[in-house]
Amino acid sequence: MKFFHISDLHFNPQDMLGLQNVEKVLQSVAAYKQKDDVLLISGDLLNKDFGDYRPLFDKLFALNMPFLCCTGNHDDSLCLIAALKNLYPAHPLPQSPHKLDYVCNDYPLKIITLDSYKENCAGGEILPFQLDFLEQEIENSHKPIIIMVHQFPLDAGLNFFDKKTAAPWRPKFVQLVAKYQEKIKLVVCGHLHNSVISHIGQTPVISAFSANWQADFDFAPIENLKNASRPVGYYIHRFDGADITSYAVAV
Ligand SMILES: [Fe+2]
Repeated sequence: MKFFHISDLHFNPQDMLGLQNVEKVLQSVAAYKQKDDVLLISGDLLNKDFGDYRPLFDKLFALNMPFLCCTGNHDDSLCLIAALKNLYPAHPLPQSPHKLDYVCNDYPLKIITLDSYKENCAGGEILPFQLDFLEQEIENSHKPIIIMVHQFPLDAGLNFFDKKTAAPWRPKFVQLVAKYQEKIKLVVCGHLHNSVISHIGQTPVISAFSANWQADFDFAPIENLKNASRPVGYYIHRFDGADITSYAVAV
């Protein structure tokens, strides 16, 4: 089976270019998807100036494939949880009413999603109880695991993400993944608005492209993050029962 992995849609119907890009990505997903495939959305579904999940969900429903969402720093945990409850009740819901942390056990891999949303904080936060939840779910899993979280949990070598908007929760998360690296097949994330790949021990960590706009690489410090005119895209992670092969698709 295949896990399609899209990220950072920053959906806002007023953003015409962004909308076109998101639609191109969804059309490409529709062309490749087969029965039993699943869509993972690693956060920033909406842009923060737009609060209605319905028009985006309508586009996702049209794909006719199950999807799993994760909050990004542009989403809002309460709004996304409410939208899922109202519009897509088949989606796994969290135990805590405030954080969209959940597990999906419907597939050959267990998906564990963590909600890093914190208002006005690009780096987000993962609280100790969430790491406890993660560890417990890893420990009691008989299946291999994919973890989904919005921010790239490692240094990306990029100033805006590593320094200006650093995520202080990263080292503890990394420690946990390292401890269970044999069980965790993949960490999927976004936030970097680029395809960036690293690893924690033997576990690959993959940030998908943004489906809306790509960021320029600020290896040297700059004042503000700039757009790069590169194609948008997404990932396909194909699981063959033992291993995952990941395909970058630029559109
Ligand atoms: Fe983000």
